Amino acid sequence: MKFTLEEFNFLPSTNLYLKENAKDFLEGQVIVAKEQTGGRGRLGRTFFSPKNGLYFSVLICPKTVEDSLFLPIIAGIAVARGIKNLTGVLPKLKWPNDVLLNKKKICGILAEGTADGKVIMGIGINLGASRSYFDSLNLSHVSSILVETKKEPDRLELLNSILSEFDILLSSPKEEVIKLYRVLCITLGQIITTSTNLSAVAMDITPKGELIVKTQDNKIQILNSGEVSISGMY
Ligand code: BTN
Repeated sequence: MKFTLEEFNFLPSTNLYLKENAKDFLEGQVIVAKEQTGGRGRLGRTFFSPKNGLYFSVLICPKTVEDSLFLPIIAGIAVARGIKNLTGVLPKLKWPNDVLLNKKKICGILAEGTADGKVIMGIGINLGASRSYFDSLNLSHVSSILVETKKEPDRLELLNSILSEFDILLSSPKEEVIKLYRVLCITLGQIITTSTNLSAVAMDITPKGELIVKTQDNKIQILNSGEVSISGMY
């Protein structure tokens, strides 16, 4: 995929900007900002997006609904590998796609659809924010690459590294991508709690990227979205 970059110092939200202007852009358009004033998170949450971050959205035109549902899985792996390329440290993924270093969330991913079936893949990475910034917001489970690795990768180098990993994964067979995902997924084998208060053990990932869990009464369930917290983590 050919990527075209448009950079901003700050925007309310790169996802919102791309969504509002999607008709003017081609597949591969990337909107990137150093700071967001209205960062959007999953499940209607706010995504705090302080200065010195890497916040970007990519416009993708998937061929099938199945392909579009797979994009967040690809994006999580691409971010983990991109970070590894620049810091030497390979992050883990908390299902479906929080990116973690030392069990702290350093990146969130939000895929939003447009009316005509395109996908806006939004990725927010905390690069240089301090521990005290997150503590002041009571976000003890959130951190930055700088705090966790003592290294602050160059924003645009990191962006390019993630985009090139993303491109490779897009053209890889889904089974291979799922194999890579399994290795990175910290949720597997853990006791988890869902937003509906279901307690279960995370067993495996389906070929579509869903989470297979076994409940306390030994029933198998498949989760395809929503919030899952890991016992002893978040
Ligand atoms: C989450 O963890 O809840 C998902 C957070 C996604 C944040 C990114 S930052 C770039 C893009 N623009 C937004 O407003 N949100 C996504």
